[in-house]
Amino acid sequence: MPLTYLVIVLREDLLDEFPALRKFIYLSTASIGLTPVRVIKAISKFLESVLSEGTAYLSEEEEANVFEELRGLSARLLGCSKNEVAVFSSVTEALNSVAWALPKGGKIVSTDVEFPTVIYPWIRVGKEKGWDVRLVHAKDFIVGEEEILSAISEGTKAVCLSHVEFLTGQKFDLARIARKAHEVGALLIVDGVQAAGYLPVSVRELGVDIYVTGSYKWLIGPMGAAVAYVRRELCESLEPGLVGWRSVEDMWSLSIGPLKYAGTARRFEYSTSAYEAKVGMAKSIEYILSMGVDSIYTHNMRVTEYALKELSSMDRVEVITPLKTFMRGSIASFRIEGLRSEVVAEELIKHCGERKPEFNVRRGLLRISPHFYNDEDDIDEFLSCLKRALKSLAQS
Ligand SMILES: Cc1ncc(COP(=O)(O)O)c(C=O)c1O
Repeated sequence: MPLTYLVIVLREDLLDEFPALRKFIYLSTASIGLTPVRVIKAISKFLESVLSEGTAYLSEEEEANVFEELRGLSARLLGCSKNEVAVFSSVTEALNSVAWALPKGGKIVSTDVEFPTVIYPWIRVGKEKGWDVRLVHAKDFIVGEEEILSAISEGTKAVCLSHVEFLTGQKFDLARIARKAHEVGALLIVDGVQAAGYLPVSVRELGVDIYVTGSYKWLIGPMGAAVAYVRRELCESLEPGLVGWRSVEDMWSLSIGPLKYAGTARRFEYSTSAYEAKVGMAKSIEYILSMGVDSIYTHNMRVTEYALKELSSMDRVEVITPLKTFMRGSIASFRIEGLRSEVVAEELIKHCGERKPEFNVRRGLLRISPHFYNDEDDIDEFLSCLKRALKSLAQS
């Protein structure tokens, strides 16, 4: 779908679907994305129906199939088969279940700038499984891909990385890392929550073994829903870390006997949960797919590039995000020489116009994360506030 189509659709519908854009310069999608009104309505309708009519609305058959729409749309989003998609309630939950599923011994490779969820399950489960968790050291928040490759060696059980880093937007060449991991018999497990929704993802082309992503950031859905691609062969060989009545072949048999897991990724699902969140995530993905991930990618990378160029040209601004397009996602992180980012953020809010900027401070860096509902005007407005704030701080 050409970009012009995306722009036309957005200009007409944007403010109706995302009314918060009238009030905020919303540059905080890496934290929480904005959910379109049509998705909020779908969630409310489902929730109201279940709460007011119980099984009269959600029959056994409906409940057994309540994840199927999400499964199908996620398969289209990630480029895999429906049977390779497991539905979870959060990225953290998915990674914990996967961690418990892996065998004992060996090394787990990750980095020391990952989001805690990408590391903590390996540390916790590693206490029981005897893993050596090796964190590759970042230099000024950026990790050398060569160093990750060198850390992968005989005995490595798994490599667990984000596709796009939450802090800096650094993007990894997953295909290259997957090749090295597979050479030594390791799995590549990826947290794609800062990528899926704008970055075209084909799990097969990337060669990843497990790819987890969540609803509430770039996929602009509600909290309480996540999905994981689990490569077909692993669906049969891995024993999920978390199990329950939904994990088995016939979930409504409810009989107690030997655990006979579903032969698909569904074996990783285990319980009743906030079904409305999964219904909402499906609708959000449908919306993203209708716009076209390629078009969103082109748009987001253009707006982020504009932000990075403008920031780089400002006095005292130190841009941390890699400037090269192939090395980054839709995140721009920076700091101001000699000033604490928290102080800058506080001052920035005081110097904004009618629309309040929404952005983040993470581990001492200022972070903006434009999505398809932002454009260069948002960046200009944000940078005007920043310039006024810096001027005021210089005078004080
Ligand atoms: C890379 C990454 N993984 C996981 C999460 C959180 O995932 P969840 O809340 O779905 O467990 C975040 C949230 O910021 C994140 O940036």
